[in-house]
Amino acid sequence: PTIYAITPTYSRPVQKAELTRLANTFRQVAQLHWILVEDAAARSELVSRFLARAGLPSTHLHVPTPRRYKRPGLPRATEQRNAGLAWLRQRHQHQRAQPGVLFFADDDNTYSLELFQEMRTTRKVSVWPVGLVGGRRYERPLVENGKVVGWYTGWRADRPFAIDMAGFAVSLQVILSNPKAVFKRRGSQPGMQESDFLKQITTVEELEPKANNCTKVLVWHTRTEKVNLANEPKYHLDTVKIEV
Ligand code: UGA
Ligand code: MN
Repeated sequence: PTIYAITPTYSRPVQKAELTRLANTFRQVAQLHWILVEDAAARSELVSRFLARAGLPSTHLHVPTPRRYKRPGLPRATEQRNAGLAWLRQRHQHQRAQPGVLFFADDDNTYSLELFQEMRTTRKVSVWPVGLVGGRRYERPLVENGKVVGWYTGWRADRPFAIDMAGFAVSLQVILSNPKAVFKRRGSQPGMQESDFLKQITTVEELEPKANNCTKVLVWHTRTEKVNLANEPKYHLDTVKIEV
């Protein structure tokens, strides 16, 4: 099956560095289609040029987050992930579903190559541990007899699916047979986007544990430090225009 990776991304000083790290990983994965969704009113030159040279199959989308939702404490990238879902559904509407697996790959996380081998065998919805998240070294689904029976987490343990966006994959078949499943803003509290989405397409009992019964960390919720640009010049700019 093809792996579809939906990556929301937005313009900031570290954007090209993040996308470079991601492309360097994805380029090593067979049959991966990268759906990059810019949080912007139009496709940017920087991302267009970058993707053209990235050397992997990709689709370049864009949708701006409404200004009222750009606030600390509110969920991020809701509209962008939905744009990726809409593109996938549109692309597959006329044919019987090709084998495919979808996952949500934020641009700042760190992905091992083994993760892709694990997710490729997803039948409906698969799950695995995520490192460096939720105020702990890791969060993970608790597995008994091959079934998810609970969650090891230190943050909002009341979440129906106590899992980060980086901790699950969904088969294309499930995406197509649940055409209304989307990420929601209304009623979505911080940290509930994953649960609110997964609730629409699966149950905890149905989840397929990967990564050796969810005992291996193959993805890390790394976050990039904000860059210090305190010494950027206001006058005496560089003599050539450099893309960073
Ligand atoms: C956590 C989760 O890991 C995210 O999946 C979740 O979307 C997010 O919380 C949330 O609060 O909604 P965190 O590291 O705090 O992640 O979020 P970011 O990595 O800053 O953003 C998630 C993705 O959205 C990234 O790919 C980022 O590039 C993108 N993003 C972020 C935008 O497209 N627009 C923004 O204004 C901010
Ligand atoms: Mn992040």
